Amino acid sequence: MEKAISFGQEHIFGFWDELCEDGKRGLLEQMREIDFDLMARLIAEHIKAESRKKFKGHLEPAPIIGLPQTKQEIRKHEEARRIGEAALRAGKVAALVVAGGQGTRLGFDHPKGAFPIGPVSGKSLFQIHAEKILALSRRFDAPISWYIMTSGTNDQETREFFQQNDFFGLGRGEVFFFQQGMLAAVDKKGKFLMDAKDRISTSPNGHGGTLLALGDSGALDDMRRRAVQEIYYFQVDNPLPRICDPAFVGFHLKAKADMSSKVLRKRDAEEKVGVVGILDGKTAVIEYSDLTKEDMYATLSDGSLKYSAGSIAIHMIDVDFVQRVLDVGFPLPYHPAEKKVPFIDETGRLHQPDKPNGTKFELFVFDALPLTKRSVTMETTREEFAPVKDAEGEDSPRTAKAAMTSLFASWLEGVGINVPRTEDGKSKFALEISPLFALDAEELAQKVDKNLTICGDLYLGK
Ligand code: UD1
Repeated sequence: MEKAISFGQEHIFGFWDELCEDGKRGLLEQMREIDFDLMARLIAEHIKAESRKKFKGHLEPAPIIGLPQTKQEIRKHEEARRIGEAALRAGKVAALVVAGGQGTRLGFDHPKGAFPIGPVSGKSLFQIHAEKILALSRRFDAPISWYIMTSGTNDQETREFFQQNDFFGLGRGEVFFFQQGMLAAVDKKGKFLMDAKDRISTSPNGHGGTLLALGDSGALDDMRRRAVQEIYYFQVDNPLPRICDPAFVGFHLKAKADMSSKVLRKRDAEEKVGVVGILDGKTAVIEYSDLTKEDMYATLSDGSLKYSAGSIAIHMIDVDFVQRVLDVGFPLPYHPAEKKVPFIDETGRLHQPDKPNGTKFELFVFDALPLTKRSVTMETTREEFAPVKDAEGEDSPRTAKAAMTSLFASWLEGVGINVPRTEDGKSKFALEISPLFALDAEELAQKVDKNLTICGDLYLGK
């Protein structure tokens, strides 16, 4: 109580006398979890001072390892792939997925990873990722540990989902759940918003919380015990990442990079992805909402976008680098975002605001990039990116399923199998290939019956 008073947040005890024992315990528990000093700093910097700053500085395009076209580039990619494969065989690479977000935009009231996305099977995002990791560990005959970041909003349900599904065939000892931190949402005066009489409205501290949570949860120690040196970081909402892509692993290792990024050429100037650039001499991702209109539309002499390196939030992160970022006091900035936050008023009545009424704070993982000594930016294709963000529209379940079908169609056609198409060139039927059947086009070529006829939705699995 005194703590709340000293931080000017005593209103959180406004209904204390009405609360049952459980309610009181819950509220005190939340108080312990919230870092009041940090919240006071954020409120002073972002709410009271109104210093909503966009990025400032000198921006240049980042050097990119492009898609291999010339013989020399193809040779370099092959060399990188071999380096990456050796690291995978030696068990030096772990996979990490960030799955702590709230999935509000998707309107799915469960962990986003539980969302059914398989175009034919209806498999969840988690299952598709799990099967890739299982297939990779078989291919390289080495364990690939999987670190799954959850948050207070979905940790328990995520763990239960894995248990109910028998960890999708993965060894339980290979899956490590860890929770990111939570921060309080505040109103325009910097007061914590309450979403019930016994509950402060909190939300996950952003995917940059991964780095803090890796240290706090013991995950980093666990990695060292397993001699894992590199983390392959990806987002739960994208069903198509080439998890542990050996070429990316290899380029990152060869450059002795601290943290590296995969990018694709932006579809158009306004595509909602951050861009990798060089800001004041340092590699950085400039979030789409922070890019000035001028930089957004800037073009090169050939007419292509100047800042076209769209981040798809796939990174290689060196384990020692994470430790270094923690050791120097974790200097990543918190980004304020105005949101619609349900809240109770002084009478205890719950309101669902229809315009932003509060601020949430988030850390972004890519803000660690400027702290790197070396960083690699590698281009990939759209075949690796179909995020499920919204219920409808451009990045929705419909577009993600279509992208999966389109990828599998190209694999099938690559081995000479006829894929019936509609007039606009799309596959007539939904297609799905389980990672356990084939992880890539090459593996499909070895396994599939070349006389296969497609006359309806097709699922190749195991
Ligand atoms: C994000 C990136 C953007 C990138 C795009 C690619 C930011 C600010 N922007 O956009 O640069 O081009 O993805 O898809 O991140 N998550 C957590 N904990 C959190 C918040 C998010 O684990 O506290 C996870 C989510 O579960 C999700 C991922 O991070 O897997 C992305 O979060 P989201 O809020 O959807 O990011 P975007 O704004 O779409």
